[in-house]
Amino acid sequence: MSHTRPLQVVILAAGQGTRMRSGLPKVLHPIAGKAMARHVIAAAASLNAQKTVVVVGHGASVVESALADTGVHFALQSSQLGTGHAVQMALPALQPLPKDGQVLILYGDVPLTQTVTLKALLQAAGDGVGLVTQHLDNPTGYGRIVRDGAGNVVCNVEEKDATEAQRKISEVNTGILCLPARHLADWLGALSNNNAQAEYYLTDLLGMAVQAGVPVHTVSPGHDWEVAGVNSKAQLAGLERAWQQHQAEQLMVDGVRLADPARIDIRGILTCGRDVSIDVGCVFEGQVTLGEGVHIGPYCVLRDVSVKAGARIDAYSHLDQAVVGPDAVVGPYARLRPGSTLGAGAHVGNFVELKNTQLGAESKANHLAYIGDATVGERVNIGAGTITCNYDGANKHRTTIEDDAFIGSDTQLVAPVTVGRGATLGAGTTLTKDAPPEALTVSRAKQLSLTGWQRPVKQHKSDKK
Ligand code: UD1
Ligand code: CA
Repeated sequence: MSHTRPLQVVILAAGQGTRMRSGLPKVLHPIAGKAMARHVIAAAASLNAQKTVVVVGHGASVVESALADTGVHFALQSSQLGTGHAVQMALPALQPLPKDGQVLILYGDVPLTQTVTLKALLQAAGDGVGLVTQHLDNPTGYGRIVRDGAGNVVCNVEEKDATEAQRKISEVNTGILCLPARHLADWLGALSNNNAQAEYYLTDLLGMAVQAGVPVHTVSPGHDWEVAGVNSKAQLAGLERAWQQHQAEQLMVDGVRLADPARIDIRGILTCGRDVSIDVGCVFEGQVTLGEGVHIGPYCVLRDVSVKAGARIDAYSHLDQAVVGPDAVVGPYARLRPGSTLGAGAHVGNFVELKNTQLGAESKANHLAYIGDATVGERVNIGAGTITCNYDGANKHRTTIEDDAFIGSDTQLVAPVTVGRGATLGAGTTLTKDAPPEALTVSRAKQLSLTGWQRPVKQHKSDKK
């Protein structure tokens, strides 16, 4: 059963994050290559929130401009008087509050709460209150959940306000909370800061709900890392590892062979066909798709790349916005820059760089070449040391190499230029005019040999007069 109530989301992100010791506002620090706040905004979007309001304070203008493209609304909390006060600041932006609506409270520094957990929370909350709680062996620092004899939530008590007995409670408040929109303004208006920290505690709304006869339902996250917050670089790194481990486990569930699930980093979305294998130390960024049977060698970096079935990427290759055709072989030490596409069975070998180049089926550039802004046909062989001179210092020009051409080693193709179908370029050629099909074209100083020539002989100091 899925909920149908109108949903609005408030993301608290006004805190300073002093312990990050960084000029960058805390919520902009990345997890898996994406600002923490963006993970939270994406979670709100996955719930089809009608409106998302981010409460900003420290570094407000930096946070706002960094997130401007997300379409969220911003509310300013100029001084941080507590989580309840922060939500008060969001209230005008939330108006009008739909009578049957839900308001979900999330945190810019708790980036990895999964949609499934949040859906369960909204479902459990219904027209009451929903709260994500967790049982911790060491609950120090957290708000404790006080329940009555029947097990119903009575209130939350913050550590600093708790009695000795309450501090022994292991069930803690994660902070993630769903509130009925119809009570929000009244309850927030009734908050006081008469507590140990002189703060307006959002958590006091739990007690108010109970007093008003509104039930408080709790759910637990599927994984502890879903509710983990980040206050330091060490926690940032710890959460990054937890997330990478989770993604690695998902891949293995889907049948991917990982040489070591602890040595893979996915910063985006990696989609794999059957029988994909990935060696250690690889980084995947953006949207990467690996077809059936693809093998990725160690220490490769792939960003926004599609690798078709049966292709192999060997060690230390770097691919960015490229398409690798079926059964192609890339690397070791290859670089495919944006706009490069390899046809079926093509080979790009060591120290070969391609940029904005289409390399046709079965074509090969196996060693030490730069092929930029080129259209290369099928079954073309590009020799070692070949360079397309695509840039004249002002403009880029294209090189066209037709099917079955053979480009000898150490050749420069001065674009714009075309090598005809089946043409051969002799080694060392500097091609400045089109090479006709089927012919041998060579530009080379004539070879000459001098007989009777004497190699200079080294003079020794003692020989000098
Ligand atoms: C809060 C909860 C506590 C819970 C804990 C979980 C309250 C009163 N307490 O405590 O029950 O166990 O989180 O981590 O809510 N923020 C603002 N404006 C403010 C204050 C905070 O935007 O005025 C933001 C912070 O940037 C942070 C979040 O709210 O992202 C939580 O604030 P924090 O001060 O860490 O709350 P805790 O004291 O840890
Ligand atoms: Ca905290």
